[in-house]
Amino acid sequence: MSLADYDLLDPETLECPYPFYEALHREAPVYMIPQMGMAVVSSFDLIHEVVRDPATYSSALATGPQNLPGEIERSTDEELQELRRVNARANVPTLLAADPPHHARYRSLVNKALSARRVAAMEGYVREIVTELIDGFIDDGQVNFTSQFADELPMAVIADQIGVPRTELRDFKRRADFAIGGIERQVPPEQERAVLQAGIELQEYFLMRAAERRQHPQDDILTTLATAELETEDGSRPLNDQEILSILQQLQVAGKETTAHLIGSAMLLFIEHPEQRVKVQQDPSLIANMTEEALRVESPVRALFRTTTREVTLGGVALPKRTLLMLLFAAANRDECAFENAAQFDVERENAGDHLAFSWGAHYCIGAALARLEIRVAFEEVLRRMTNFRLDPAYPAPRHEPSYILRGLQELHILFDKLA
Ligand code: HEM
Repeated sequence: MSLADYDLLDPETLECPYPFYEALHREAPVYMIPQMGMAVVSSFDLIHEVVRDPATYSSALATGPQNLPGEIERSTDEELQELRRVNARANVPTLLAADPPHHARYRSLVNKALSARRVAAMEGYVREIVTELIDGFIDDGQVNFTSQFADELPMAVIADQIGVPRTELRDFKRRADFAIGGIERQVPPEQERAVLQAGIELQEYFLMRAAERRQHPQDDILTTLATAELETEDGSRPLNDQEILSILQQLQVAGKETTAHLIGSAMLLFIEHPEQRVKVQQDPSLIANMTEEALRVESPVRALFRTTTREVTLGGVALPKRTLLMLLFAAANRDECAFENAAQFDVERENAGDHLAFSWGAHYCIGAALARLEIRVAFEEVLRRMTNFRLDPAYPAPRHEPSYILRGLQELHILFDKLA
């Protein structure tokens, strides 16, 4: 099939995007789609070029416009519009959607909480959560690996780091998940209403807890944000409610969804490639490299966006000012120019860690050290205590979320043998 035959929003293209990515690499590493008013960038080198130059490529629309042309139109129901407006108070540019110089000021506030040193000290605590989760199903020989394990670990970790009870965050997230899981996904109006209401309740809850932290500080991110002084041109000032909500919202989406997706996808890779699982079980020191290889092969953040701030030529293609660019990190990670036999899952790949799954440059994932720790510890314990993973035939074949931003399995029911 040639490039023109693919529709990037088509559910089947989203389910198995790899032939589409190959066509992009072959035919147009910068692919203008005039009817969508945007260009898709898929080559490893060109995405590097873009993310390293925030002055030319702004992050202001990092998660894309509200609706991509070609998506279903959103309902114009007045009550819904009001709920959307209130919910959108968290949409102020702080981390992901901020450009220099503002971006660095917000980033330095969160950096300390997620620094490599602080994260390294969390290993024992992460292992305790993993052990408790595995204890919960190890004797059953079967598990819904996504809901009972992959989703639970990052949810518990991010709730603890933010400083809210795990059960409360889980409860809110269950109700609000639809909007967050597929930021851009279209839902029927009644569902959107429920999701928006849950989102607004969660915001109120966060603000209440932030106010409490001003009175009673603790060692958590809520306290950091509630008591932070932001440097501005006119001196320093406390963060306002919108900024606090914006940062918290990003931390829980980016902190939970992505890591959960990777853990689920890596398990499916092991089911599809049992010889790779055996290699890692025989030599657990390969787990760190396996983590990088899984991030490369099944990148949980498929794509994010940039907008050109001036006329520029990228990969030989002239882009007018204000062109929306979809950066397909997942395609770059399968670019043959950067990775030999790119489609192959190889836990011993020497340059696996060169991937762009965490992006690069100013917006390089601030949670990368934490994500790597969670994934490594998760598989150290899973591979030590369980083996012979296979799909549970009682359930339909696993499918991915139909999102063009995130890639992850909706559900993964597996059977396994117990080792320890
Ligand atoms: C496997 C897991 C993860 C993946 C694949 C991932 C991927 C990414 C990517 C691709 C970006 C860069 C965006 C850009 O260039 O525009 C990013 C940024 C970010 N990530 Fe992650 N992430 C993961 C885990 C986490 C975790 C665990 C946290 C928090 C605890 C987190 C928080 C963030 C935040 C706040 C940003 C925005 C940083 C900025 O704009 O300065 N991520 N992530």
